[in-house]
Amino acid sequence: MVKRAGGSLLLSIQINREAQQPVSTQLCIALREMILTGGFLAGERLPASRTLARDLGLSRNTVIEVFDRLVAEGLLESRTGAGTFVSAVLNVSRPKPQQPDAPPLVHSAPKLSGMMAQAVSRFGDRKRLPHMARAFTTALPAFDVFPMAQWARLSAKYLRGARDDILGYGDPDGLPQLRRALASHLRVNRGIACEAEQIFIVGGAQQAFHLIGSTLLNPGENVWFENPGAIGARNSLIACGANLVPVPVDAEGLRVDEALRLSPQFRLAFVTPSHQQPMGNVMSLERRFALLNAAERAGAWVIEDDYDGEFFFTGRPPPTLKSVDTNGQVIYVGTFSKSLFPALRLGYVLVPPTLVDTFGTIMSKFLPGVPSHTQAMVAEFIDEGYFASHVRRMRLIYRERHDVLLAAAHQRLTGLLDVQPTHGGLHTIALLPASMSETAISRDAEQRQVTVSPISRFALAPVAVNGLVMGYAGVSPKLITAGVEVLAQVLEARLSLAGKRKTQAR
Ligand SMILES: Cc1ncc(COP(=O)(O)O)c(C=O)c1O
Repeated sequence: MVKRAGGSLLLSIQINREAQQPVSTQLCIALREMILTGGFLAGERLPASRTLARDLGLSRNTVIEVFDRLVAEGLLESRTGAGTFVSAVLNVSRPKPQQPDAPPLVHSAPKLSGMMAQAVSRFGDRKRLPHMARAFTTALPAFDVFPMAQWARLSAKYLRGARDDILGYGDPDGLPQLRRALASHLRVNRGIACEAEQIFIVGGAQQAFHLIGSTLLNPGENVWFENPGAIGARNSLIACGANLVPVPVDAEGLRVDEALRLSPQFRLAFVTPSHQQPMGNVMSLERRFALLNAAERAGAWVIEDDYDGEFFFTGRPPPTLKSVDTNGQVIYVGTFSKSLFPALRLGYVLVPPTLVDTFGTIMSKFLPGVPSHTQAMVAEFIDEGYFASHVRRMRLIYRERHDVLLAAAHQRLTGLLDVQPTHGGLHTIALLPASMSETAISRDAEQRQVTVSPISRFALAPVAVNGLVMGYAGVSPKLITAGVEVLAQVLEARLSLAGKRKTQAR
């Protein structure tokens, strides 16, 4: 039930007793807004607390408490024996209220820095990363089988630890226990000879790309970038002023010969060698050496994004580029968004020894760091062996989901959509006949709650391939099969529409 106040302006204050917000907070917000927008003159006397309480149907204590809060904020002044007044300071320093006929402020374009103004225009669509998985969302691991109980136990254990560790500022480079755990994980599982000091903990891979770009790039410098390629990395580097050079990829990865032809001078190259994003290929050893040689000649750095390299389905994992980087040109970036879950916002950068001091200075001087709680839990998860067994288990689950997708596609999508097998990771691609529009199919599918991304979304420049990116890791085999059925219907409907148009045209 909404009650109205008596009195002139105060009539407009509405107190909703059914709202979740306490009535004192509602009154405080309403009075604050009236004061700041010029509803009261500076120095004007407010009604007595008793009167206001009666008019609004509140207790006098509530009104007194609100007056006290606004006095503490400097908006009201209380004068003993005289009453409560709007602070005289507002006479000079209160922002002028907008004229009623002036255009609303939100519509006037804010002045951005030149670099960000340019970047904003190049970011592409405003799609946000997915919050929950459905067929065939990319980017999300399997939440349905995440070991929540283990996670909760580790969290409770952490909170019983020493107060200084829990509450104090953490090490800006990252929690030492996590850096040590990661160094050992990378040595054993990713073939990378490294020390914990080379690893810096950040809030996810995307932040790592921005950190690297803002540290090593001057605006306008050339960056070789896989085309099609990773959207998040693309945006981070654009935000640093990079001039991205779209370099085609093939079954062996980045076409280094093409890159040299397009831009022999470059400052940075971005690659996903273990599982090209989005096409899914592993970069060949020959290409790896060609890239490292080109980078050495140009005095350039190479970013290796190893976002899902842990999840391979057969044999040994694809090697990292970093493992053959003998000259220290590769900056390796890892994330827990796929191997654990993305809400952690936890990733890391492994820099060559020559960059350790620079990154250490940057981290300690102005990067806020990552919550200690999160880092400590992940470190414990790794040290206790849970991480290794979680990844092993997920490999089997993702392989099963991948196989279910391929089997269902074989049954239902043959001749419509050619779903490609992949060696690992959380997604694959599916090729469409040239006559079918990937954007139209993805739009139709989205209307039926099935997500497939056009490959062109990942492209900086037009690519020859026509198809869709399909995630299989995030949902159960049952949902995968149901999603394939929806896709088949969507494709059949499009085909029959195209057939009808052809007949009409004859
Ligand atoms: C290619 C690639 N790298 C890294 C990431 C992870 O980014 P973040 O660690 O910021 O969540 C993603 C997420 O989808 C990705 O697609």
